[in-house]
Amino acid sequence: MSELQLTGDKDSLFTADIRAQLDMWIAKYPEGQQQSAVIPSLHILQDANAGWLSKDIMKALAVYLDMAEISVFEVATFYGMYELSPVGKHKINVCTNISCMLRGSEEIVEHLTDKLGIGFGETTKDGLVTLKEVECLGACCGAPMLQLNRDYHENLTTEKVDALLDGLS
Ligand code: FES
Repeated sequence: MSELQLTGDKDSLFTADIRAQLDMWIAKYPEGQQQSAVIPSLHILQDANAGWLSKDIMKALAVYLDMAEISVFEVATFYGMYELSPVGKHKINVCTNISCMLRGSEEIVEHLTDKLGIGFGETTKDGLVTLKEVECLGACCGAPMLQLNRDYHENLTTEKVDALLDGLS
């Protein structure tokens, strides 16, 4: 993924492909309620920008959705799924909430941090992996679990973690 190029005025703030994706979501809401599309719009822009949202991108989205910049920032900073600084090619979100903790997330975290040589909120030197600690991801029945990019991996063991890391390139 390459970094998003912002262009010109409101009608050309984003590339045609991105505008089409944003407009598809905007069309799902009643006229004048385009700001309701802010959550999927942030996802679209984050995906198009190597996994993170710059201030300029959020400001451009505020213009596009005709909403206050602060309202876009509030959404982007509230949810852990948005990144406000550059991340690695792959993102690992490890749940350490109660069910996962009771079923061994501490061992999983220790294994991950040992193998990757980084802690939470950090990215490996080669830019391959960013490691994050997250709250419950709603997969408690498969605890302990993690999310690798968009996919959930449940009932983790250190062997399963090794297989996941070995599969990253
Ligand atoms: S506590 Fe980990 S997914 Fe719910």
